[in-house]
Amino acid sequence: MAYNLLKGKKGIIFGALNDKSIAWKVAERAWEEGATFTLSNTPVAIRYGELDELGKKTGSKIIPADATSLSDLNMLFEESMDFLGGKLDFILHSIGMSMNVRKGRTYDDLDYSYLQKTIDISAISFHKVLQTARKLNAINEWGSVVALSYVAAQRTLYRYNDMADAKAMLESVARSFGYIYGRDKKIRVNTISQSPTPTTAGSGVAGFDGLMDFTERMSPLGNATAEECADYCITLFSDLTRKVTMQNLFHDGGFSSMGMSLRAMNVYNRSLEIDENED
Ligand SMILES: NC(=O)c1ccc[n+]([C@@H]2O[C@H](COP(=O)([O-])OP(=O)(O)OC[C@H]3O[C@@H](n4cnc5c(N)ncnc54)[C@H](O)[C@@H]3O)[C@@H](O)[C@H]2O)c1
Repeated sequence: MAYNLLKGKKGIIFGALNDKSIAWKVAERAWEEGATFTLSNTPVAIRYGELDELGKKTGSKIIPADATSLSDLNMLFEESMDFLGGKLDFILHSIGMSMNVRKGRTYDDLDYSYLQKTIDISAISFHKVLQTARKLNAINEWGSVVALSYVAAQRTLYRYNDMADAKAMLESVARSFGYIYGRDKKIRVNTISQSPTPTTAGSGVAGFDGLMDFTERMSPLGNATAEECADYCITLFSDLTRKVTMQNLFHDGGFSSMGMSLRAMNVYNRSLEIDENED
């Protein structure tokens, strides 16, 4: 159902790769709510992904940019304002990647050049997006910038690896930049901490299916889907959340406040019985 929440608003959506991507769902919802926007991803992702289809559906221009490159970002902002005919009202940063995770390096055996890439792509790029936008005065007053995070920024989750450090930094950037941008331009900066979601990036974490089952059982409302995450993003881009800023907002069905649930306890108890039988 659409409510025209973003009627007349303009934006940039980073990180749609395929129809599983959280950014893809956000683009579809933003379009339904009346927004116009550009879509951006790396040249490689655009070549091998399915972004053309989304661009056609939403009438969006696709502009390649490596989010770690300041010159790419400058060009992206200029081109976006040109295409959209004015300054922006919202930005979605939906970008993450770890070569250590991809190559199966454990947290006590990190490759440090990979670690630098992880931090650059998954966290510093958010600062670069904000700094570029501010220098170009590219966002209207009461605009809204959202990045996607994960609870591993606060709590240790087996195998999330160096992405945990990147997410901790990402959330810190939202607070630090949120102060400056709020003070000067009344622009909101927040992160949404999303449930595990079966996307290309999500499924790249080893043991992902077990994790999703665990968080589903632990969360009183169940895991939040990519579509539900998109709904939440829309509220943050809308004028209904104008005083929400510098927050890390959990969108996880209640998982982050749980210690143990009945559904998780039942499975745990059953596994103990199996162990006892094995003795
Ligand atoms: N899937 C999950 O379980 C989950 C949970 C919480 C948070 N998140 C976060 O959501 C965001 C989106 O991920 P997703 O799950 O939709 O997966 P996804 O794989 O669909 O999206 C990740 C995107 O990052 C892009 N990217 C990588 N390097 C880039 C670069 N240098 N410049 C620009 N873009 C680059 C990829 O091309 C891809 O489109 C990420 O920040 C991720 O950490 C995901």
